[in-house]
Amino acid sequence: MSYKHTKIWTVDKNIEREECSTSIEEAALWIKGGELVAFPTETVYGLGANALSQEAVAKIFLAKGRPSDNPLIVHISRLEQLEGLVIDVSEDARKLMDAFWPGALTLILSASDQVATNVTAGLSTVAVRMPSHPVALTLLDACGVPVAAPSANLSGKPSPTTATHVQRDLDKRIAGIVDGGPTGIGVESTVLDLSLPEPVLYRPGGVTREEIEAIVGPISVDPALTDTDSSPRSPGMKYTHYAPKGTLTLVRETKKIRELVEADRRSGLRVGVLATRGERAVYEADVVVYGKDSRHVAHSLYDSLRRFDDAEVDVIYAETLPEEGIGMAVMNRLRKAAGGRIL
Ligand code: TXA
Ligand code: MG
Repeated sequence: MSYKHTKIWTVDKNIEREECSTSIEEAALWIKGGELVAFPTETVYGLGANALSQEAVAKIFLAKGRPSDNPLIVHISRLEQLEGLVIDVSEDARKLMDAFWPGALTLILSASDQVATNVTAGLSTVAVRMPSHPVALTLLDACGVPVAAPSANLSGKPSPTTATHVQRDLDKRIAGIVDGGPTGIGVESTVLDLSLPEPVLYRPGGVTREEIEAIVGPISVDPALTDTDSSPRSPGMKYTHYAPKGTLTLVRETKKIRELVEADRRSGLRVGVLATRGERAVYEADVVVYGKDSRHVAHSLYDSLRRFDDAEVDVIYAETLPEEGIGMAVMNRLRKAAGGRIL
């Protein structure tokens, strides 16, 4: 699949939901017509296709180089759209939708048999989310159909948080990109399975475990999130994720990072540091990215990882974060990127 040109529509990120622009209308027409269009959500950019068309959905797997056994999230803008997608909405599901939709929570529910089999990768469940980004909601309203959308990166790259990231991965591989500026949260949505007797967290993300537990009580966490020997329940979590070109190591102590940076630079290596605990610690590295708190680190995490690659650093040291709130999602992505290396 190759296009002469990938169209970019630049739109106001604060667009009013009711006032659909001609850009959004055109992008929606393209999606309805079976083309792939990337669009911003509050988490990361998604690569959208008409979820009712098997043919359109197949293009997503081709464009991203995504394994076909990895199911997609279906995005909706109105609760009525659940009909036709899922067969049972439990009381927990209702409560969580009330509390967090629109927002960064993906719910896994029993799928109706109308959902295209390549969306669910043949599973009996389907992942559904109502994003809160005004551009996403306006676009989804204009589409009128549910939209299947994975993160709009090439498989194996960090998720895109700007239209430029999307363009760098997918230029000429997709029909268009709606550019609504950088995304807010910066890490993907939380994936929670509600098709089992008890809720199970598959992927920590934008809505925190604590926030979910405040609504439905204690939830269990897929053991694979902490134990590298068990196999994940969610297909996407089993793939080796993005690993930066430089060797990334997570380090608990600031002092240890200082020593490592100094030693590596003496031996002529190019060094990057991802500092997650504010601006106080000063590192004499080639590239240093600071985040003042977990939210800030999440917001710029994927852009930072891309920056380390662009700067061709040989090694990267990242400070660890407390695994609470959004820190749980950041640490999950960092552990994967570090291939489990932690000092
Ligand atoms: O924030 C997000 O969730 C972004 C934006 C675009 O919405 N999307 C996203 O999609 O991150 P993707 O495809 O990169 O990640 C979806 C995750 C994968 O790990 C996939 O395996 C899992 O959700 N998933 C989807 N359907 C599933 C199902 N029926 N059962 C278990 N896991 C499922
Ligand atoms: Mg992804």
